[in-house]
Amino acid sequence: MSFEPSVITIDGPAASGKSSVARLVAQRRGAIYVNTGNMYRAMTWAVLQTGIDPHNAEAVRLAAEGITLQSPVVDGQTQVAVNGHTLSQDDLNSDPVNRGVSLVARVPEVRARLVADQRALADLGPLVMEGRDIGSVVFPDSPLKFYIDASEEVRSARRRAQGHTDQVAERDRLDSTRKTSPLVVPDGAIVIDNSHLTLEGAVQAVLDALPASPLT
Ligand code: CDP
Ligand code: CDP
Repeated sequence: MSFEPSVITIDGPAASGKSSVARLVAQRRGAIYVNTGNMYRAMTWAVLQTGIDPHNAEAVRLAAEGITLQSPVVDGQTQVAVNGHTLSQDDLNSDPVNRGVSLVARVPEVRARLVADQRALADLGPLVMEGRDIGSVVFPDSPLKFYIDASEEVRSARRRAQGHTDQVAERDRLDSTRKTSPLVVPDGAIVIDNSHLTLEGAVQAVLDALPASPLT
């Protein structure tokens, strides 16, 4: 059965709080949570397994053609599997993936495939989907768009507190300057700077901006 797409979009820079906010908003609104960054991370993990240099866009394009991703829904959120093998958060957040993901994500053919997969997920029912281009490219007609921001200092500190080594500023630079679907504040998006908000405060700011029953 097919539903009219009903998607809350959440975009923003690295470590701004998008995933945590999106997961909680989805739980509270009975929607499926989709982390599209994990799809780009899974593709990067698989590309790195082939031994190619992610700086080589043509090699990435060719390697990606042989990789199949699945997004099964488990406990109200999508997981990512590569050629049938479900990846762990340790795989997805490893240092090599952090270093390579923005290079893989700038390849237009990789984006075209993942955007098609992301749009198809709307057939499953209401979604809260977060990433970099969800309100601008994947679901530009959604009336429910958010952009979650925080200062670079706060974002780097949040990532360090999670125990990950991450090149937050370098990924932001690549993500904001690439030709295909750069990170932007989507037209019509509500911007929430949560530098000085608790996680619960940021979730509440999103919920407060939603109409009473946006997903029915
Ligand atoms: O969680 P964090 O903000 O650190 O990153 P992520 O959401 O896991 O995304 C990892 C990378 O995937 C980003 O730095 C982008 O290069 C890419 N990405 C993208 O290009 N488009 C999306 N919709 C989501 C992620
Ligand atoms: O998905 P994204 O990379 O944008 O960020 P995240 O992984 O959801 O958040 C990074 C860390 O910041 C997590 O440990 C969140 O719990 C924390 N966070 C926070 O302390 N206060 C907020 N207002 C938002 C997130």
